[in-house]
Amino acid sequence: MATESITLTQPDDWHVHLRDGEMLHQVAGYTARQFGRAIIMPNLPTPVTTVAMASAYRQRILAATQAYPEFKPLMTAYLTDTIGPQELISGHQQGVFTAAKLYPANATTNSSFGVSDIKKIYPVLEAMQKIGMPLLVHGEVVSNEIDIFDREAVFIDEIMQPLLRDLPELKVVFEHITTQDAADFVVSQSANIAATITVHHLQINRNHMLVGGIKPHLYCLPVAKREIHRLALRKAATSGSQKFFLGTDTAPHAIGDKESACGCAGIFSAPHALENYAQVFEEEGALENLEAFASLNGPAFYGLPVNQKKITLVKENQQIPSTFGQQALLVSPYKAGETLAWRLLSEQ
Ligand code: DOR
Ligand code: ZN
Repeated sequence: MATESITLTQPDDWHVHLRDGEMLHQVAGYTARQFGRAIIMPNLPTPVTTVAMASAYRQRILAATQAYPEFKPLMTAYLTDTIGPQELISGHQQGVFTAAKLYPANATTNSSFGVSDIKKIYPVLEAMQKIGMPLLVHGEVVSNEIDIFDREAVFIDEIMQPLLRDLPELKVVFEHITTQDAADFVVSQSANIAATITVHHLQINRNHMLVGGIKPHLYCLPVAKREIHRLALRKAATSGSQKFFLGTDTAPHAIGDKESACGCAGIFSAPHALENYAQVFEEEGALENLEAFASLNGPAFYGLPVNQKKITLVKENQQIPSTFGQQALLVSPYKAGETLAWRLLSEQ
């Protein structure tokens, strides 16, 4: 008989863009209603580079998620060429910074203050290695000569391998991996190296974005790759390996900013993230590994306890609304208007 419901330890989302201001208020509840904790990405228009900025941002997130008082945002520091080790160490010791995020300069949304040469932040990375603070990496090179579909694979050779050679004890999360190369690389490394995988990279390849008309709402960075990569990611995510865990990379942009001559990168996947992941694991015949991927592997890597609460998903169709939010901030969700096979029960 087909599985009719599945109960899991409450999952966490290890990669989330909540934005700020009105947009924060509009989107944060969709993450907080499903997940116990979320790693909050620091790429605000003015990046989160200090302990004071992260504390203030955390307060704004808590204000926006009051309906879910148990939800815990885990803050990250945005690494720049000039950030000092002391800020990170002190933020980590105070329990404000869970991790730090490396954006290669100009790799993606609000990354112009990112790192121009990783060597410039070696003192910071050495300090992080010493205190066991994880480095979260947007793993794409930015050189104009490198084809956008090759940027992750080239990053592994040019940046990631030398980095791990130089700092073998550093804990690194290779964020939102999109290629077989990255999945194989992570498996080949020590237990210090793990990866998050988004649900959209498990469900779409580049054809979904480009065939039959361009679909701006499926454009994200790193961009979706060929089918062989999607299949490799599905295998990795559903394998039960401790090295892979859930990170949606939900990244809302107002519809006008997506449906544009120069559209922003980002997929707003938060509202039905768990249902979509469940669908993937079911299709792969691996529902028994969903809890490890969604709820256990992330806390184990970060050295945090697993959540106490349980959540239940039932096998029940539901339709995704065509839009969320209002007026100028209206956003189009991942799979707008489509029907899902699973539904998260709202209260347990
Ligand atoms: O698609 C993306 N959107 N990728 C990123 O790396 C950043 C994110 C955003 O903040 O919009
Ligand atoms: Zn992201």
